[in-house]
Amino acid sequence: MKIEFEAIIPVVDSGRLLMEVPAKAAAKLEKESSQKVNAIINSKTYSCNLFYKEDRFYLHITRGIKRDVGLGAKTVFTIEIIDNGGGTEDDIHDQVLKWEIAECKALMRKVGIKTNDRVIDFGCGYGHYTIGCALALEQTGEVLALDCDKKALKWINEKEKMYMLNNIKTIHTNGEATIDFPDNSLDVILLYDVIHIQDKKSKKSLAPVLYKEAYRVLKRGGILSTLNFDSDIKKMTVENEDRRMTADDIARDIIDSGFSFSHAVDGGVHFDWYHSKYRLEKGLDFSDLERGMIQNYVKRM
Ligand SMILES: C[S@@+](CC[C@H](N)C(=O)[O-])C[C@H]1O[C@@H](n2cnc3c(N)ncnc32)[C@H](O)[C@@H]1O
Repeated sequence: MKIEFEAIIPVVDSGRLLMEVPAKAAAKLEKESSQKVNAIINSKTYSCNLFYKEDRFYLHITRGIKRDVGLGAKTVFTIEIIDNGGGTEDDIHDQVLKWEIAECKALMRKVGIKTNDRVIDFGCGYGHYTIGCALALEQTGEVLALDCDKKALKWINEKEKMYMLNNIKTIHTNGEATIDFPDNSLDVILLYDVIHIQDKKSKKSLAPVLYKEAYRVLKRGGILSTLNFDSDIKKMTVENEDRRMTADDIARDIIDSGFSFSHAVDGGVHFDWYHSKYRLEKGLDFSDLERGMIQNYVKRM
């Protein structure tokens, strides 16, 4: 069976695309939670996952699509349903989406996120943690997803629609380490896989400024949740000291910035390989992604 429709391509990343199927075309589709389909655009065939959720369908082209396909322009799509004999095997794209809505939500609860909290996901990227966070808030509170990459924020907006959430606000910045919120106004700050980022001009680590800003904007007892991976830590050097940084150095810097260590939570995932076209083409599996411990701190008086 083939279904044709016109739609605007909202965002493309690492050869992938995520978008809602317009209602008229969706009405012709079988309501299965996940199906493997082909999408044909300009005579080119792309392999896709088609998700069904609460009366809407979402098309996830999982590889090979380029930005020059017509980003932001009205495009004709043909969806071809593949007869897969009734069974679909989870690929890494299914697994990532499932991780975001189930495991990450549980993870965020263990971090200490509770209903009505206001949370900042600083350097949120494609929102792997933003979604779990928004779900852990149970449609209350607010996740402020902040990044200097507009494309990543657009991807989050699509996912927010797909998961029918209404408590995410994306914030585009020019790359400053400042967090543009009043003193003592936030409950939780996530600094996940961002501690290694550097100021574009000085090439110095933004981490010390971020810890200072986190201390300023968090309420007393607010949570600073960090996630760093061994592969990054071993590349970083300690300023003014000719040696590599360790996880202990990071913990000491955070404690010196006015926080106390609270608890660690196992289960952080490093998504950088998932955003590498090269790795995806080589056949990446979810289990290949690096894992790390989330370290939580609370703001001292
Ligand atoms: C390695 S990704 C981590 C994404 C996400 N936190 C995760 O763990 O999946 C780092 C993110 O930080 C963003 N970033 C880098 N420098 C930044 C800055 N100065 N201000 C805001 N975001 C920044 C990048 O655009 C990128 O999305």
